[in-house]
Amino acid sequence: MTQATWLTAASYTKGEPFMLEKTGIFAREWLPMCTQSQLENPGDYVSATIGGWPIFAVRADTGVGVYRNTCRHQNMMIVEKPAGQCSVLQCRYHGWQYALDGKFIGAPPLVAPADAKAPGNNLVPLATTTVQGLVFCTLRDDAPALVARTTLGEAEGNGFAPYFLHARMTDVACNWKTYVEQRLADGWQFEWPLLMVHANGAIAEQIVPRSFLRTRIVSLTRDVAAGRTEAKHAAEQAIEEAAPRVEILQQRYESGETTLLDLPTTHAFRARVQAAIVL
Ligand code: FES
Repeated sequence: MTQATWLTAASYTKGEPFMLEKTGIFAREWLPMCTQSQLENPGDYVSATIGGWPIFAVRADTGVGVYRNTCRHQNMMIVEKPAGQCSVLQCRYHGWQYALDGKFIGAPPLVAPADAKAPGNNLVPLATTTVQGLVFCTLRDDAPALVARTTLGEAEGNGFAPYFLHARMTDVACNWKTYVEQRLADGWQFEWPLLMVHANGAIAEQIVPRSFLRTRIVSLTRDVAAGRTEAKHAAEQAIEEAAPRVEILQQRYESGETTLLDLPTTHAFRARVQAAIVL
């Protein structure tokens, strides 16, 4: 088979396939969440809805934790800003409070849980690991350990600074798969399912599927002390150049032209998506 035809235009333009990806891919894989550099001090936090899953990362005295962004009282969202700093996590709906390590602290008497010490009052933590300054998490309880990431490892071996830094966020009007396919066609290396690394290894992009037609790109650079400004500029140029191209590609997918970017790398990607959502 020379062409993967099982992904139709609907796969890039409709909500139902995105819901299959939410459970088949995003709930099962290790997802890039943020950089360590965004969580330097206790109380620093970053939140995102990745592939339909609201989650947040926060630094406590004991280290970085990632949690479902859901209050244990009535499941409302706790962290509403994309990033910030706090000493306590407090739900604005009825006032349940949590420590930076996710432990329930207290609640106003009228809405307090019957047993203040019940483990079910605590925020739900996700498995978390850090690779080269990137914080990864997974919603799976039984996720296999995150294996060494080949392209990241190669970059380190080639003398790059070991850590990625956050550069900027850009929203692109496209399905997340459209973005991945364009970057594969551009020759970027792919870390399944949501990280692209430029062929030169110096910049990377974290892909945040926000809905089936909105994708946030978080540009990342290597921590090169001598050339931090230049690296940031290169990352910004990369997304500014790509975003309009990807939006045009998305429009062409919407018009039914799903056989564009007919490449071995895009075929392999589509096959992997298909296998994941069928399982
Ligand atoms: S939903 Fe959070 S305190 Fe009620």
